[in-house]
Amino acid sequence: MFPKTVYIHTIGCQMNVYDSDRIAGGLAPMGYHRVSTPEQADLVILNTCAIREKAEQKVFSFLGRMAGLKRQNPDLIIGVGGCVAQQEGRSILDRAPYLDIVFGTHAVNRLPLLVRQVETSGGRLVDVAFSDTIQESASCQSLPAAGQISSFVTIMQGCDNYCTYCVVPYVRGREMSRTPERIIAEIQELVAAGILEVTLLGQNVNSYGKKEGLCDFAELLKKVNAVDGLSRIRFTTSHPKDISDKLIACFSCLDKLCRHIHLPVQSGSSRVLQRMNRKYTREIYLEKIAALRAVCPDIAITSDIIVGFPGETDQDFEETLSLVREVAFDGLFVFMYSDRPNAPAAKFPDKAPEAEKAERLQQVLGLQDTITLQKHQALVGTTQMVLVEGHSERSSAADISPDKIPDMQWHGRTSTHKIVHFPDVKGVSDGSFMGRLVAVQIERAFSHSLWGKPVFREEGRCSIR
Ligand code: SAH
Ligand code: SF4
Ligand code: F3S
Repeated sequence: MFPKTVYIHTIGCQMNVYDSDRIAGGLAPMGYHRVSTPEQADLVILNTCAIREKAEQKVFSFLGRMAGLKRQNPDLIIGVGGCVAQQEGRSILDRAPYLDIVFGTHAVNRLPLLVRQVETSGGRLVDVAFSDTIQESASCQSLPAAGQISSFVTIMQGCDNYCTYCVVPYVRGREMSRTPERIIAEIQELVAAGILEVTLLGQNVNSYGKKEGLCDFAELLKKVNAVDGLSRIRFTTSHPKDISDKLIACFSCLDKLCRHIHLPVQSGSSRVLQRMNRKYTREIYLEKIAALRAVCPDIAITSDIIVGFPGETDQDFEETLSLVREVAFDGLFVFMYSDRPNAPAAKFPDKAPEAEKAERLQQVLGLQDTITLQKHQALVGTTQMVLVEGHSERSSAADISPDKIPDMQWHGRTSTHKIVHFPDVKGVSDGSFMGRLVAVQIERAFSHSLWGKPVFREEGRCSIR
């Protein structure tokens, strides 16, 4: 077996990042190792996203670049997978004559076979079949990279919610949950390979297991919490309509569960939420937030918002702004509504002009920036446990004067998912704080991060939980 190289380019959400790792894991036994540029590669895989038009445009501009590489190296194999591949199928082959493989969201496990077929007998292959069972495969496991401490773990695939703006149910198929045994076994393997933090992934993790009659999501969290050697658990995404009291209670009783929830609201107007088919009102959303804060007062709450949904009036938009003020989110992702060909809202009347969507986007982002900074400032003086993810040579923290910038600094996240930078402490870090939980006293607040110093509880030692 000759050593070969694969370059994987990932666009889109954490699911795609996880799938790209599985793709790498599945190709490794064929001799492929991952490289960081397409120019070095024998095989290029593009993992695509169809959530908004812009994401889809990225696919075709990347493929345009690959055309040039294929002219220079006719043996280069190029494959396109993910959500655009699922949506467009064979028609991508027509648009990109130099493409060898189109594989859909349920074909990740079959990719090694497709690559083998192209290697041995050529041909232009398409596999966009949906399966009605979860595709598990021992060979397509994600392999953590050296030094990696955090990993995604998909617990379910697909979505049955059919929000009227969204393409996901059409490109990822029906909701299906993996068994708790599979999930726990994968997490145990990851922990054995050095992983300290897992993020459980699903489009709507709160409905985990319901269809299959498996345990519910709160029970799954308890099982994950019991995995020895794991430090932290995160999950995404939660749908407000399915978040149960039992799940909310987990934030007070599971010691490894991080104090952060991403709970997309999409709009502050109940009228718009109904047209989006979200199945909750503004009032129900606010009740869920209150319940979360009642069990875990310092829980960080982040969200997604779509501005310019068809028919969104000035009054609807004002309600979104007032909800953002009322909840005071820790962070927000804000998107301009984008027509998706399969989604019902594409046919709704009263589309907002692009300029109006852009204006609304800026207004929400401006409001949130002020709130985020206030929340960060409120943390100055507190001590936070930071799980260290990496280091950099000199600070990019703009507000620290150059003479105070240390030569080496570490960064990681708080339980509430905030990024913290802190200086190296010679003689204490033993060369590395990597992967350690370090108590950091917060000294400065910036809009996207915090700065602090490690706290020492006894001479020469840093307090590490
Ligand atoms: N399953 C998750 C989110 C998946 S997509 C959930 O239900 O929240 C991530 C985000 O993209 C969504 O929360 C939404 O805010 C945004 N989004 C989805 N479709 C969109 C569209 N057609 N136009 C603009 N934003 C969209
Ligand atoms: Fe899309 Fe709605 Fe499903 Fe989220 S819950 S993936 S927004 S259809
Ligand atoms: Fe994009 Fe597919 Fe994720 S459409 S957001 S990559 S599920």
